[in-house]
Amino acid sequence: MADVEPIERPAKLQLPLLAASGLIKSFGGLVAIDHASIEVAKGSITGLIGPNGAGKTTLFNLLSNFIHPDKGRVLFDGEPIHQLQSYQIAQRGMIRTFQVARVLSRLSVLENMLLATQHQTGENFWLTWFKQKQITAEERQQREQAMTILESIGLAHMAHEYAGALSGGQRKLLEIGRALMSQPKLILLDEPAAGVNPTLIKQICDRILTWNREGLTFLIIEHNMDVIMSLCDRVWVLAEGRNLAVGTPTEIQTNAQVLEAYLGQ
Ligand SMILES: Nc1ncnc2c1ncn2[C@@H]1O[C@H](COP(=O)(O)OP(=O)(O)OP(=O)(O)O)[C@@H](O)[C@H]1O
Ligand SMILES: [Mg+2]
Repeated sequence: MADVEPIERPAKLQLPLLAASGLIKSFGGLVAIDHASIEVAKGSITGLIGPNGAGKTTLFNLLSNFIHPDKGRVLFDGEPIHQLQSYQIAQRGMIRTFQVARVLSRLSVLENMLLATQHQTGENFWLTWFKQKQITAEERQQREQAMTILESIGLAHMAHEYAGALSGGQRKLLEIGRALMSQPKLILLDEPAAGVNPTLIKQICDRILTWNREGLTFLIIEHNMDVIMSLCDRVWVLAEGRNLAVGTPTEIQTNAQVLEAYLGQ
């Protein structure tokens, strides 16, 4: 029998990992998100850009259900998420980081990493009582995982320092590292390069590319166009809460409407 070529699935049958459409969100009289849509293909690094106040962070809040839309819907991995709590969305594999990194300054870097692991055996009183050995093995495994991630983001030597001793850039790395602890499918990064020195930006970008090659999908808000150009497959542009354009980074860089939106701010 002749060899049969594997049939490639047509692109349109491949569901995006994250898809939102018709999103609307008002704060009082201000319409922050106005019929916005976005799609993030599985395996991609997708960018989200737009002038200050365009609604990017608000869109992240809607995508991760930190706030609820007035209208519209969000599908993650083909399932609607509007009835899920943020932590349930995280358990399903979507984790977001914050524009100002949220780390607990009075805990060590390692403890911050371990906070990410939820619903482990140790949280159940009876299992705690009877299965001490199992907990010890689980905790050891989590510590090892945390240390491996800290190695990969260059923070292993700081594992036992207070997180408050980290620079702004290192806090962003720690936040990304903590997100990785729960082995997500998709990470939403809100300005990973803001306030970070160029050497560390390069390190963050290299790590994102490596994690992406290993199968992780990213949606990244960023004002630094070099970061967007070097990382993203596709870029969505938001202006005044509305979709302005979508395309490859090169297409977006030469789009007259996008240029105008940035110059007009
Ligand atoms: N909780 C809120 N209450 C009232 N207004 C809000 C709230 N959150 C956001 N806004 C307003 O919504 C608009 C969009 O803000 P958002 O923070 O989403 O913009 P952004 O694109 O992330 O901007 P930046 O690039 O500066 O981070 C702004 O006018 C902002 O003031
Ligand atoms: Mg923002």
